[in-house]
Amino acid sequence: MTQALKFAARVFHRVRCTPELSASRDYRNYDSAPRRLADIPGPSTPSFLAELFCKGGLSRLHELQVQGAARFGPVWLASFGTVRTVYVAAPVLVEQLLRQEGPRPERCSFSPWVEHRRHRQRACGLLTAEGEEWQRLRSLLAPLLLRPQAAAGYAGTLDSVVRDLVRRLRRQRGRGTGPPALVRDVAGEFYKFGLEGIAAVLLGSRLGCLEAEVPPDTEAFIRAVGSVFVSTLLTMAMPSWLQRLVPGPWVRLCRDWDQMFAFAQQHVERREAEVAMRNRGKSEEDMGPGAHLTYFLFREELPAQSILGNVTELLLAGVDTVSNTLSWALYELSRHPEVQTALHSEITAALGPGSNAHPPATALSQLPLLKAVVKEVLRLYPVVPGNSRVPDKDIHVGDYIIPKNTLVTLCHYATSRDPAQFPEPNSFRPARWLGEDPAPHPFASLPFGFGKRSCIGRRLAELELQMALAQILTHFEVQPEPGAAPIRPMTRTVLVPERSINLQFVDR
Ligand code: HEM
Repeated sequence: MTQALKFAARVFHRVRCTPELSASRDYRNYDSAPRRLADIPGPSTPSFLAELFCKGGLSRLHELQVQGAARFGPVWLASFGTVRTVYVAAPVLVEQLLRQEGPRPERCSFSPWVEHRRHRQRACGLLTAEGEEWQRLRSLLAPLLLRPQAAAGYAGTLDSVVRDLVRRLRRQRGRGTGPPALVRDVAGEFYKFGLEGIAAVLLGSRLGCLEAEVPPDTEAFIRAVGSVFVSTLLTMAMPSWLQRLVPGPWVRLCRDWDQMFAFAQQHVERREAEVAMRNRGKSEEDMGPGAHLTYFLFREELPAQSILGNVTELLLAGVDTVSNTLSWALYELSRHPEVQTALHSEITAALGPGSNAHPPATALSQLPLLKAVVKEVLRLYPVVPGNSRVPDKDIHVGDYIIPKNTLVTLCHYATSRDPAQFPEPNSFRPARWLGEDPAPHPFASLPFGFGKRSCIGRRLAELELQMALAQILTHFEVQPEPGAAPIRPMTRTVLVPERSINLQFVDR
């Protein structure tokens, strides 16, 4: 364990074991008056900017969380671009903060994504909307996506996408040099899977991303998703004077979002015409296997601009999240053959050894090791390593009062690698979720966020991951690339592998 991690462990342990913090409802230290923003420690703005731009800190934001906690304690303050943000990196304080949320939690009011919508007069989708607009969209979308039965209703659609993924992996083996079963850059393959899966759910049609010839516009969409995450980080980190001098990131961000909106628009318009022709007057139950989310949004008479904003943002949200998690899952399983063997046994016992079994979604969601593997992967590699909130009233966090409208960054990566919560925090040990270790603090690993603003795609993502892992392991034994060095994560707004993951998919 590095020195930084050891120190972080001590800090976390102290916070966890301080009676005032853990026993009282609002976790304040009553020995002293609450302290103000100005009392919060943190790096100077020049040193933080130097860390970000001169020492590669932008791609190591997740590590800076761990270092920040080690240096300043569980709460610190730093300027990110034009905005000051309070970092919170202890589970007990994350819980305290999130439990003070109002009815319409705000994630990030000044986001460049919102700026793009304003500039282009586009409607925000659920990701970027705030206030009443967000609440209206959330109450419309949650029953269609988040309710377990609703998500399970997409299992048939996803099943055919997963089968295409298995076929594509088989086709992609042995291209280029290396062993015959090697697939290069599995994340690239899983981005296609992610887009195909979310598009099938949203639009009820297949894009062909998993065919031998991938349609160029879908490749372009995937490139735009990757690129927008890079330009987002740069745009947010640059102070406004620097943005004026170096407008490139903002220009690229607009170009990428424009491309994603144009892609979604052509598909939504096609669906609109089909829905009008096929389903006029029919009820939800009549829709059968062709049911898709866009249909329901049209039926609810959501304005066309809002449907487009939501479909575009949901497409983006569905690509990198599921695919990176699947890449990490197979990377770790390839390096832990004993876990892979146990998981394969669990899956074949439930599904039967035949590869054509169509498991009901509920059967997979009850497999304990499969669930533990997904949880452990998301603990080690939380796709969203740092989430945010902008409180609408003054709130207490530990000894501090955080004024309303302050951006607060929740350091999920740091808390989920906290050695006081997770023994051997950098090791892949799914058994820790099966009672092998004492239960961690419930807010230590929050890969899907928490509360009213938590991930609306959670059920869908879990279903996709469980179905993909079950099918892939039924067909293949996944092995590492011979001689490959370990791969670390890096931040690109979301957490991604720092370089391509190549894996062998050996027929069972
Ligand atoms: C492994 C997969 C995924 C992970 C780890 C993940 C994680 C997250 C996190 C951490 C948030 C912020 C929650 C908060 O602020 O409390 C979020 C929000 C969101 N996610 Fe996901 N996500 C995943 C997959 C998906 C998928 C497949 C979709 C598309 C259906 C999706 C759509 C969204 C949307 C629309 C929001 C914004 C919700 C709101 O503001 O009300 N996510 N996700």
